[in-house]
Amino acid sequence: MNATMYYSDYLQLDKITGSQEPVSFKDGNIPAHDEMLFIIIHQAYELWFKQILFELDYILKVFDKQAINDNSEDLNLVLHRLRRITRIFELLNQQVSILDTMTPLDFLEFRNLLTPSSGFQSAQFRLIEATLGLQMQNRHQSGYYKRTGEGGFDKEDYERINEREATQNLAQLINNWLERMPFFEEQFWKNYKYSSHEKITDHIFWNDYRHVYNTSLTAREANKIIDFDYVFFNKIPEDATGERLNNLRSTFSAKALRAALFIMLYRDFPVFQTSYQILDALIEIDHLMSNWRHKHLIMVRRMIGMRVGTGNTSGAGYLEGALNKHYVYRDIAGLSTYLIERRNLPKLPDELIKHLSFNVE
Ligand code: HEM
Repeated sequence: MNATMYYSDYLQLDKITGSQEPVSFKDGNIPAHDEMLFIIIHQAYELWFKQILFELDYILKVFDKQAINDNSEDLNLVLHRLRRITRIFELLNQQVSILDTMTPLDFLEFRNLLTPSSGFQSAQFRLIEATLGLQMQNRHQSGYYKRTGEGGFDKEDYERINEREATQNLAQLINNWLERMPFFEEQFWKNYKYSSHEKITDHIFWNDYRHVYNTSLTAREANKIIDFDYVFFNKIPEDATGERLNNLRSTFSAKALRAALFIMLYRDFPVFQTSYQILDALIEIDHLMSNWRHKHLIMVRRMIGMRVGTGNTSGAGYLEGALNKHYVYRDIAGLSTYLIERRNLPKLPDELIKHLSFNVE
C-alpha cells in the first residue's frame, strides 16, 4: 500500500522554507529585518524563472520539428504556453512593488554583506534570455558576461549559459518556421488578379503590396520605401551604415519577415489566427521583460543611486543600456511600420486560402 501523501512532503516544503538564511542574522552581525524579504523575493523570482524555462523547453521542441502540422495540437499548445509565460512575467513585474516597501536605508543595513553576488549572476535569467534568442553580439557591454572572476558566473553556470547560447534559440527556430510558410508558392497565385505592373520584386503579390504601401506614405515618410526594400528584399540602401541596417532588421531574415508581415496583414482569416497570436505573444514577452527591466532600474536608482552594483557593473548605467538594447523580437514588433489599411489589402486567391485551410504540413 502507498504511504499516504502528505502536503508538505509532496511539496518538499522543509527544503523550501528551510532555505532562508539571512547573513546578517549570523553570529557577529547585526540582524537586518528586511534581509528576509530580500531573500524570499529573489527565491520566488527564481522559482518562476524555472517554470518559464520549463515552458520554453517544450516550445523549442515543437519548433525544432522538421515540419509542424498546423492542424495538430502543437501550435495551440505552443500558444497556450507562451501565454502562460506572459502571465508569469506580469506577476514578476508586480512583485517589484513588494520590494519597494524596503527603503534604501533598510537595504544599506545588509548590502555590503552581499558583495560581490548580484542578480546579474542569475543563471536562469541568462538562460531565459538566451533561449528566447538574445545573442552575445546584441548585448550591452558584452564583456560583462564573460567574467568568471568576482561578480561574474561560477564555472558551472558559465558553461551552462555558453552551451545554451550555442544551441538553436527560439528566435532562430521561429525564423525557420516562418521561412517554411508556403504562402508564396507559384501554384497558389495563378488566378491572382494583380493591379500593379511594377516588377520590382519577383512576386506578383509583393509588387502589388509594395505599390500600395508606397502610395500610402506621406511626403515625410517617403523614404520608408527604402527601408521596406531592405527589410523584405535585402536591397541595401546606398548610404547605409551597419548600425542603420541593424536597426531595421537584426535577427530575422527577409524571407521570414515577408511571411510574418503576410500573417499580420491577413490575421482576420481563421487560418492565420494561431500563427498571428504566436507572433503577438512573442512581442508581448519582449515588452513585459522590458517593463521588468525598467521597473528594476527605477527601483535600483532609488535604492543605490549611482553607486556601482554589488555585481561590479556600473550599476544603473549598465541596466539602462540593457533596457535599451535587450529586445529579441524587435524585427517582428517593427512590422507595424509596413502595414496598410485593411480596405486596400490585395484580395487573396481562393487556391491559397483553400490550401491553407486544409494545410497538413
Ligand atoms: C534591493 C534590490 C536590488 C538592487 C539594489 C539590485 C541591483 C542590481 C544592480 C546594480 C544590477 C547590475 C549588476 C550589478 O552590478 O550588480 C542588477 C542586475 C540584476 N538584478 Fe537586481 N537588484 C535588486 C533586486 C533584484 C531582484 C529582486 C531581482 C530578481 C531576480 C533582481 C534581478 C537582477 C537581474 C536578473 C539582473 C541582471 C539584469 C540584466 O543583466 O539585464 N534584482 N541588480
